[in-house]
Amino acid sequence: MVAGTRLHPAELVLPVFVKEGIDEPNPIGSMPGVFQHTRDSLRKAAHEAAEAGVGGLILFGVPAVKDARGSAADDPDGIVQRAVGDLVAEVGDALVVMTDTCLDEFTDHGHCGILTPDGQVDNDATLERYAASAVAQARAGSQVIAPSGMMDGQVGAIRAALDADGFEQIPVLAYSAKYASAFYGPFREAAECAPQFGDRNAYQQDPAGPVGEALREVRLDLDEGADAVMVKPALAYLDILRQVRDLVDVPVAAYQVSGEYSMIEAAAANGWIDRDRAIMESLVAIRRAGADMILTYWATEVARKLA
Ligand code: PBG
Repeated sequence: MVAGTRLHPAELVLPVFVKEGIDEPNPIGSMPGVFQHTRDSLRKAAHEAAEAGVGGLILFGVPAVKDARGSAADDPDGIVQRAVGDLVAEVGDALVVMTDTCLDEFTDHGHCGILTPDGQVDNDATLERYAASAVAQARAGSQVIAPSGMMDGQVGAIRAALDADGFEQIPVLAYSAKYASAFYGPFREAAECAPQFGDRNAYQQDPAGPVGEALREVRLDLDEGADAVMVKPALAYLDILRQVRDLVDVPVAAYQVSGEYSMIEAAAANGWIDRDRAIMESLVAIRRAGADMILTYWATEVARKLA
């Protein structure tokens, strides 16, 4: 009766991976229980999530061919566009189908943007690529565009491109406060997007940077038209999450990222931690810190448990 924090399946979002050109789902070694899906197995996973009452899916795609500009990202026949069409047809009425908008899964160098000849990420050239990808995703049926690349001006560029293409109604969920984190390690295996040189410190935030930087990123994204904002990772950034929640009047999402998942799974597999309690405790903490929505690889399992 007096619990201050409750979890509900509809607040959970399941991140899913689809890979072009595979016949069987491919287990991700560093994320036990998570797969790179085929289009078929993705449909099945989506159906299970919807059945469990999960509120949304966010789709990441791994193309068969990568190049310097990430051409597959806005190809109407690209894997994300095809798979999002499948998902909307399968579960589009039951939950929200979102797409991650970035280039790192699509570039051969693994960076989140277009590179200059000397290997720096070219912020403004990248914005055009993000805008084209967002439009391709919306045309394919995506119901929410979620830009995760941390380029300056990405929300404004995407909003303008969506509006110009007749997608005024499609909301943008901005990965606003995204830190350069070791906890993304397993994801880079899942999405095959580890940078081939350098790191993402030039565009993602410094964990030791001033808190005000995160709040400023959030304010800028709202000024550019974001409909909801995200803090990522979750558990190591609960203080940021609380401050963002107190600052804004839009929905706030938190991403319990791959490393957060794998830490608990690995410790549990060794018998060092009570898996189910640790999962619930971590999610309650994220919710208590202020998240309205939580992206978690346990979404379907937890939703079933809550039901
Ligand atoms: C970038 C992106 C990343 C994640 C989501 N979107 C990786 C990165 O920034 O390196 C990480 C998610 C996770 O670790 O679960 N497109």
